[in-house]
Amino acid sequence: MQPAGVARRLLRHAAQPLAAQLPKLLSAGGALAVQRPAAGEGHPVSDEELVRGGTASAPAVEFLEHPDLAEIVGDLSRPQKRLPTRLLYDERGSHLFERICETRDYYVTRAELEILSRDLDDIAGFAGAGAGVIEPGAGCGCKTRELLSALEDPRWYAPLDIDPSVLWRCREAIRQALPHLPLVPVCADFTQPWCHAGLPVAERRLLFFPGSTVGNFEPVQAQRLLGRFRDAAGPGGRLILGVDLRKNAATLRRAYDDGEGITASFNLNLLARLNREHGADFDTAAFEHLAVYDKALHRIEMHLRSRRDQWVRIGGCRFHFAAGETIHTESSHKYLPGGMVALAAAAGWQAQKLWMDPQRRFALMGFEAAPRKQPNTEVKEDNMAATKKSSGGRRYGKGAARTVASAMRRRKRGTLKSGPGGKGGTVRSRKQAIAIGLSEARRKGAKVPPKKAGGGSK
Ligand code: TRP
Repeated sequence: MQPAGVARRLLRHAAQPLAAQLPKLLSAGGALAVQRPAAGEGHPVSDEELVRGGTASAPAVEFLEHPDLAEIVGDLSRPQKRLPTRLLYDERGSHLFERICETRDYYVTRAELEILSRDLDDIAGFAGAGAGVIEPGAGCGCKTRELLSALEDPRWYAPLDIDPSVLWRCREAIRQALPHLPLVPVCADFTQPWCHAGLPVAERRLLFFPGSTVGNFEPVQAQRLLGRFRDAAGPGGRLILGVDLRKNAATLRRAYDDGEGITASFNLNLLARLNREHGADFDTAAFEHLAVYDKALHRIEMHLRSRRDQWVRIGGCRFHFAAGETIHTESSHKYLPGGMVALAAAAGWQAQKLWMDPQRRFALMGFEAAPRKQPNTEVKEDNMAATKKSSGGRRYGKGAARTVASAMRRRKRGTLKSGPGGKGGTVRSRKQAIAIGLSEARRKGAKVPPKKAGGGSK
């Protein structure tokens, strides 16, 4: 078993700029397990050759050319090895994932379908008439078919998927079920910015994000993702979000390590994929699937554990695996409904609806795009309040508020001086600090009401 503390050290699967990785990759004898081919296993390569891409007899360093490989090598170089989660979903991976959804132990899909069929009318009502439906990470679009056929006068359906073969199948399936619905398939990685400006018009846009994919992101990243969805939805847009709820650890572990071993194949396929696509030499039989629940972080973690001490080559590098050492491949965070309400609110979504299965294992949540805040409203509130209070509730322009706030900060630090050119003593009084802030603002030409006789500020 992986010690629980490891989970807390895990960093996110974000792509790093290659430049940031190079020193690490190329430093000879560094603490990391990245190594050039050992003597006898290839021609010794100078760092310069590595940068240039190798020589005729030495392996070229492909990671300089293939962005995935750069990320893979970087991820395997960490103290807790990891691999980019999105690589789980190649054609075989997507197929295996569909089979996971049919297993007895993976309750997520069944619970969600239960909600969809029981509350379909209410859900469709929430979506409203004339919606254009966007589905990031659409997969085969099975769940969406149900929803689309219940919607009133849907204008179009835009499935987004990173895998073109999946997108193709999705298109065929939707065409058969709903031949008159315009389809706008988009081949894109929804975790990256993608172009939604070109989508056709609709009464409003509906983002449909079922599954529990939102749980596969760290909360901070989930918030960023929901913020992107908010941008894509536009004013008046809606979001229907699938959220897997917190429950006992045993149920969760079983769901992510099913008795039929399909989840294990799904996870191990990642290594097979690296062998196929990037010339790695993982012995897939020497790794095993592992699902651990981290109670503190409320997440299931998927790992691949090395069954023995071994070395693996990829991208011109060698990585050492101690027996029992793991590669972290995916996390699935579990939420309370209230937690997701708060997270989505921070991303610009107002919670409107909550649908759950009778056993409360899973939730579909309905959100509406919150009106955009006025720009320039983020004046430091406590300082603004001080300005208002001490000056009899008068409102100043933003420029004045800023210089007053700055004077207040200097007062707190004890660096605000009174008198011409700051030659006087240290200012202690709030009133005096405000007055200095205002006169600074006046000097800079900011909007400040003229001083009044007997007024609040001097
Ligand atoms: N979105 C799914 C989830 O978190 C993904 C998933 C299910 C998964 N089972 C898995 C990912 C096993 C990796 C391994 O529930």
